[in-house]
Amino acid sequence: MTLNEELRDALNAQIGMEFQAFYSYLSMSSYFEANAWDGFAQWMAMQSGEEREHAMKFYTYLLDRGATIVLPAIEAPAYTFDSPLAVFKASLAQEQKVTAAINRLYKIAHDCDDYATVSFLKWFVDEQVEEEKTVSDMIEKIKRANANPEAMMLLDRLAGERQQGDEA
Ligand code: FEO
Repeated sequence: MTLNEELRDALNAQIGMEFQAFYSYLSMSSYFEANAWDGFAQWMAMQSGEEREHAMKFYTYLLDRGATIVLPAIEAPAYTFDSPLAVFKASLAQEQKVTAAINRLYKIAHDCDDYATVSFLKWFVDEQVEEEKTVSDMIEKIKRANANPEAMMLLDRLAGERQQGDEA
């Protein structure tokens, strides 16, 4: 079954959105690294890597469906932030945008009766629930610790213990 054009274009656009997230998290990681928040830096570097994997899932899926890959331009990400809390708030806003885009893709696929793409997208629908939760939890923890340098240092250390596949 040939991919519907609107769906194909939206899937191509999603590759760009995931690479934008990859780039953005990499920039957030560099901010943390430069400000001696080593654990948060590692957390963001791992998240950045996951976003690249997301982009490549869309890339591979489009190729599997015989579609032409049209890689979109990505923008330069922010690289300065007011605080660790500001970084994670920016991260949550980004994830909410990705969730909206995935939901839109899901609707297009469904409206086209393209159930292979609906099935492919299911993983991303579930993943976005986890991604938003992970970042929201971190925001709550930072808010709780913010006034206390020792608590922030502990949180930074715990963030650095995140392993591939962990949600927080
Ligand atoms: Fe690939 Fe964090 O969304």
